This record gives sequence, C-alpha cells and structure tokens, in this order.
Amino acid sequence: MSIPATMRALQQTSLKGPQDMRLITDAPVPRPGRDEVLVRVAAAGVNFADLSRACGTFGNGPQPPYVAGFEAAGEVVAVGEAVTGPPPGTWVAGVGDGAFAEYLTLPAAAVMPVPAGWSAEQAIGLVVNWPTALAALKPLGRVAAGQTVLIHAAAGATGQAAVTLAKHYGAIVVGTASPAKHETVLALGADHVLDSRDDDLAAEVRRLTGGAGADLVLESAGGATFAASLAAAKPVTGRVVVYGLAGGEAALTNWELVYRYQVHVVGLNLGVLSQAAPGIFGEVMGELSALVAAGVVTPARPVAHDLADGPGVLAGLAARATVGKLALLP
Ligand SMILES: NC(=O)c1ccc[n+]([C@@H]2O[C@H](COP(=O)([O-])OP(=O)(O)OC[C@H]3O[C@@H](n4cnc5c(N)ncnc54)[C@H](OP(=O)(O)O)[C@@H]3O)[C@@H](O)[C@H]2O)c1
Repeated sequence: MSIPATMRALQQTSLKGPQDMRLITDAPVPRPGRDEVLVRVAAAGVNFADLSRACGTFGNGPQPPYVAGFEAAGEVVAVGEAVTGPPPGTWVAGVGDGAFAEYLTLPAAAVMPVPAGWSAEQAIGLVVNWPTALAALKPLGRVAAGQTVLIHAAAGATGQAAVTLAKHYGAIVVGTASPAKHETVLALGADHVLDSRDDDLAAEVRRLTGGAGADLVLESAGGATFAASLAAAKPVTGRVVVYGLAGGEAALTNWELVYRYQVHVVGLNLGVLSQAAPGIFGEVMGELSALVAAGVVTPARPVAHDLADGPGVLAGLAARATVGKLALLP
C-alpha cells in the first residue's frame, strides 16, 4: 500500500478551546521512529483530555499548533528499523499524539492488538477508558465485593467502563449523571443513580449507605463536587481516587484531612502509571485482556462522527451533552 506524503488532520491553533481546532488537508504524514509503527487510523477516540488540552488546562499539554487527539485504532502500515513486531497488516489500538488524522505513529512496544473478531472502531476505549477505570477500582481503589462505590460521570466513556467493572467485582454501585442519562446508568447495572448537579450528593450517598458513606469514590468531577466526594467517603477506611477535574480545580488542606475528611486520597494519571509503575500497568492490561476474553468487556459502540466534526463533538463534551464513548472517523 502506498503511503501519501500529506493527510487530513485536525489542528489545534490556540489554547482557547476546541473552536480553534480546524481541519487541514496538508498535514505531513509522520514517519515512524526506530521503535515506532505507523498506523493508518480507522477510528480515533475522543476523550475529555482532548478538551483539557484545547483549553490549556492539561498538565504539560502540547503547545499549538499541534495535531489534536491521542487515542487511535487502525492498521499498521509501516514500522521503524528496530521494530520486531507488530508487523504491517496488524490491527492495533494505542495512545500517541496526533490521533485526529489519517495516520499517526505509536510506540511499537505499547500498542494493543485489536481483539480477534473486533473492528478497530469497537476497540476504541480499550487503551484509555477501560484501563483507567480498572486501575482506579482495583490496584488503587482496592474494591472488594459488597463494598459501595460512588462513580461520577457514570454515563460517560470512563464512567460506563467503571460501572461495568465495579458490578463485575461485586460492588454496590452508586452512579452520578445528568438526569437525561440516568436510564443509561441503570441499564449498565448500577444499583442507584444520583443527579450529578445535586448540591448535596454526600447526604444522598450517606442516606443510601445507612449513614456509613462509600468505601470508594471514583472522582473525576472536580469543582464543588470534589468536596462532596470527600464527604461521601467512609471515614478512616474510605478511598477517593482522583483522576479527573471536569468541573475545575478544587483544594484540599491538611487541616481538612485531620478534622473534616479522614479519608485516603489517591491521584491517578494513566500515562504516569504506565511509565512509573509498569508492573502495575502490566497487571491492569493483563486483567483487561482476560476480561475481553471472558466477555465482561464487550466491543464498544462509540458514537462516531466524521473527522471534520471534531470541534463540535468536543463542544458537546464540554456541554455535558454526550453519553458513552465518542469517536472520529478520518
Ligand atoms: N487520569 C487519567 O489518566 C484519566 C484517563 C481517562 C479519563 N480521565 C478523566 O475521566 C473523566 C471522564 O473522561 P471521559 O473522556 O470518559 O469523559 P466523559 O465521562 O464521557 O464526559 C465527561 C462527563 O463528565 C461530567 N461532568 C461533570 N462535571 C462536568 C463539567 N463541569 N463539565 C463537563 N463535564 C462534566 C459530565 O457528565 P454528567 O453531565 O452526566 O455529570 C460529562 O458528560 C474526565 O475527567 C477525564 O479527564 C482521566
């Protein structure tokens, strides 16, 4: 297959938001480095972090102009000189800069094969949302059967994965979501669903747990909800795994940890986890593969849009108007 010199791509031109993301048709097709593969993108995953990057709130994010997107699935079409596999013709999913494009390069050692019988589009989410949810629940959150888990943005891509896994591990799940998404959360098996815009979520969680509080909180809401998550966790043994701040930054002081919220606060960043704790990350990915084989993790059905619609898709994510996984097709 011949590889063109230029391609369609979505380029972010400022840090003012996705309205400054534009389609270009002359982006250079990247060349794979020594340890990289070149992938023809079949589907790119849209993540909340794409919005954070476009708004300049992502930690150490790319500087404009840059080709947006970082999650893709597609076919390997060329490999760097030191690559021993996967060979051209293999379908893979992976994380690398510049996914909102027709081609991107990925580190050969870090790509995941698209599961047998799945399309590339169905594999979207396997390298971002599912491992994040699994890491939050298991190695970091230490979920156990019978424990109560509070999951924010439960109708979102990461939240849906978390609800599915938490139920698989035998937890009692309390999800939060905007009211229009409550049916989706309950259909995934959540035991309870609360309005994510409710001012007193902590009181609702205590009511549902007989006053005890949640054993584990998956905190991605941020803003004012962050304090509610701390207050909703069970004193002394409750864990709050913080992996997102959709609603903005929020502070926590040592005074509050001593006198107000006696909980375990754990930060999670999947990229750092994979680099700094490869053993834990390997266990997460190994367990994920086993869950795919067992049929617990099933093919995604992302809401797919044309690449050119990327800015509008990100605006919908910012407006809390989306449900489940979103994909862009180049
Ligand atoms: N740390 C990591 O490595 C990592 C990896 C993956 C994802 N994440 C984080 O996980 C969270 C979910 O990511 P995702 O890509 O799966 O997105 P998503 O959940 O599909 O969409 C975001 C959802 O967050 C909720 N939300 C609450 N407050 C919001 C606000 N002020 N503005 C916008 N949305 C708000 C909304 O749900 P409701 O309206 O239903 O409440 C919204 O639909 C994000 O915070 C993301 O940064 C972190």
